[in-house]
Amino acid sequence: MMKMPNVRLAALGATVLHSFSATAQNMSYGADNFYRSDNVTVWPVTFPTLYRTTVAGNLFLPNDLDTTANNSAIIVGHPMGAVKEQTANLYATKMAEQGFVALSIDVPFWGNSEGEPRNAVSPDFYAEGFSAAVDYLGLRDFVDRERIGAIGICGSGSFVLSAAKIDPRIAAIATSSMYDMGAFNRDGLRHAQSVDQRKEIIAAAAQQRWVEAAGGATAYTGGAAQVLTELSTDVEREFYDFYRTSRALFTPASSAPNLTTHPTLSSNAKFMNFYPFNDIDTIAPRPLLFIAGDRAHSREFSEDAYALAAEPKELFWVPGASHTDLYDRVEMIPFAKLVDFFRTHLVRN
Ligand SMILES: *[C@@H]1O[C@H](CO)[C@@H](O)[C@H](O)[C@H]1NC(C)=O
Ligand SMILES: *[C@@H]1O[C@H](CO)[C@@H](O)[C@H](O)[C@H]1NC(C)=O
Ligand SMILES: *[C@@H]1O[C@H](CO)[C@@H](O)[C@H](O)[C@H]1NC(C)=O
Ligand SMILES: *[C@@H]1O[C@H](CO)[C@@H](O)[C@H](O)[C@H]1NC(C)=O
Repeated sequence: MMKMPNVRLAALGATVLHSFSATAQNMSYGADNFYRSDNVTVWPVTFPTLYRTTVAGNLFLPNDLDTTANNSAIIVGHPMGAVKEQTANLYATKMAEQGFVALSIDVPFWGNSEGEPRNAVSPDFYAEGFSAAVDYLGLRDFVDRERIGAIGICGSGSFVLSAAKIDPRIAAIATSSMYDMGAFNRDGLRHAQSVDQRKEIIAAAAQQRWVEAAGGATAYTGGAAQVLTELSTDVEREFYDFYRTSRALFTPASSAPNLTTHPTLSSNAKFMNFYPFNDIDTIAPRPLLFIAGDRAHSREFSEDAYALAAEPKELFWVPGASHTDLYDRVEMIPFAKLVDFFRTHLVRN
């Protein structure tokens, strides 16, 4: 996630520090977004949603998988505005190395998944992507339908919770660096955005609808900064480092480089109606694991979800980690915790 509705572009004239530099920036703690494992085979797959659109995914199979057995499977969703090649493939690979069938997906409207216009926001459709992935996995004869779990990273943390509330086939749910995309768009970080400011954003989206309804060009909002200036905030720098340098720069065939991470402005207002934590307690008795860095600017979202969820639930802090550290820094991401969580909970009752 990278959209900052309440942050104006840096003042004109500020010194531009970087522009589309593909230079690796901070690669500390084993940053390895594009990690591939010799022990895992990757299969590009596609499958339909309930609405007959196509979702694209990568199926990661352990090379020593017993395909005559019923195996546990884990779906992985990428950060908001990203694609499966960013973060989701890494988590899926690490889970497959530990014996799980793993499936990373592009949420609808992003990456290679269908949906027009590109980069549209539809939290309901994003959640449907996870349920469509359950359909796909459950139809594989090497997957046990009762042992399918999911990991949602950043915005996908809120989409997977939204999916799980109405899809009991998702048996265990973990989030990492979760962003509640509803609360964030309504209220900003730490409730820094007033209702009047929210209304300005809604009004701008409504105005843009007029433009597009009359055949005008699509407009985009937020997104990871394309350039850093001396006025850039820490949050902007953090997302820039991940999305705009070779650390994790990736442009899917369906996107222009300057549109990656940028949702369409008119559809972004849909997030204002997104309340992923309402009724979160009804996911119980299925277990929830919320993983976040204790330095993450997004930590309030994991705290809020944890407070509202019912048992069994766990809030797992990663000491010293920021929001994007848990995207790709393999020495910080608690993969062993995830493996333990899914080994414990993806069992037949
Ligand atoms: C690089 O990232 C790590 C992890 O967030 C952080 O501890 C370190 O201070 C960063 N280094 C620089 C030079 O920003
Ligand atoms: C890959 O498989 C080999 C042989 O089983 C094993 O020794 C090695 O630890 C595995 N590597 C990873 C990263 O899981
Ligand atoms: C896998 O699960 C199905 C459905 O419960 C069952 O019919 C089948 O026998 C199982 N296969 C194995 C190899 O355990
Ligand atoms: C992206 O780049 C194209 C080509 O340079 C330009 O026409 C378009 O306005 C840019 N779009 C945005 C949202 O910056």
